[in-house]
Amino acid sequence: VSADPSARRPGAPVVSDPKAHAASVRRMFARIARVYDFMNHALSLNRDRRWRRNVARRLDPTTWELVDVCAGTGDLGLACLEDGRAREAFAVDFCADMLHAGRGKGLGRSVPAAAGDTLALPLRDACCDAVVAGFGMRNLADLPRGLAEVRRVLRPGGQFLTLEFFRADTGGAGPERGAAAPVRMGLAASLPLLGRLLGRDRDAYAYLNDSMGRFLTPREYAAQLEQAGFGEVFVERQTLGIAHIVGGRLPGC
Ligand SMILES: C[S@@+](CC[C@H](N)C(=O)[O-])C[C@H]1O[C@@H](n2cnc3c(N)ncnc32)[C@H](O)[C@@H]1O
Repeated sequence: VSADPSARRPGAPVVSDPKAHAASVRRMFARIARVYDFMNHALSLNRDRRWRRNVARRLDPTTWELVDVCAGTGDLGLACLEDGRAREAFAVDFCADMLHAGRGKGLGRSVPAAAGDTLALPLRDACCDAVVAGFGMRNLADLPRGLAEVRRVLRPGGQFLTLEFFRADTGGAGPERGAAAPVRMGLAASLPLLGRLLGRDRDAYAYLNDSMGRFLTPREYAAQLEQAGFGEVFVERQTLGIAHIVGGRLPGC
């Protein structure tokens, strides 16, 4: 059963049935865990590697402990370690199959991992210098609660960086600008088909496209960060506006 994309009204930070939504999202990622990395690189024509490096380069060079939430198979935390910006990374995801699928790359070893919900992180208050989230915040049933958790675990002055597929901001003119209509139409048409052909799961990749169309725009998400208490909020456009990095920082001491 795929996650019900209709559970989110476009632009709404909270879905109508959070429990059912979370269960459905977890089941869906468990189903595609083994093909997730392959599909990610194939569908993005390997651009996702560059997007992850761009996140890593945004980190303060003094970042010691980093937490990768909605970590999946761990690629974002691993990219931050490889780049040398973060000294230690820790991964959290509520789908054990996704964490398991990342073991071959060092998840669970160079990057320790734990099963846990981003809406109730199994971490102490103020335990890390940075939190990163790759393509995960879109799946949260309650975005403000997730942001409050991110804030809780960050030290004063800590950074939060999100790499995400947002709803296209067609009115925007700056870095928040979404992909042009032909690019979006191409993605909408090809994702479910490629999902079925390569990943043998049409529903999961139809969900990817639907959930993008119903999530927040980069500007709306940036406003949520500000509401959650983050400052220095920025938006950085990636490849044709297909993905964006949105980040912010907690006030210092
Ligand atoms: C699209 S994958 C992204 C994986 C990885 N971060 C990446 O950059 O490729 C989304 C991940 O978010 C996880 N996720 C969704 N909602 C979550 C929640 N409430 N708590 C923890 N993990 C969650 C899913 O299990 C899945 O592994």
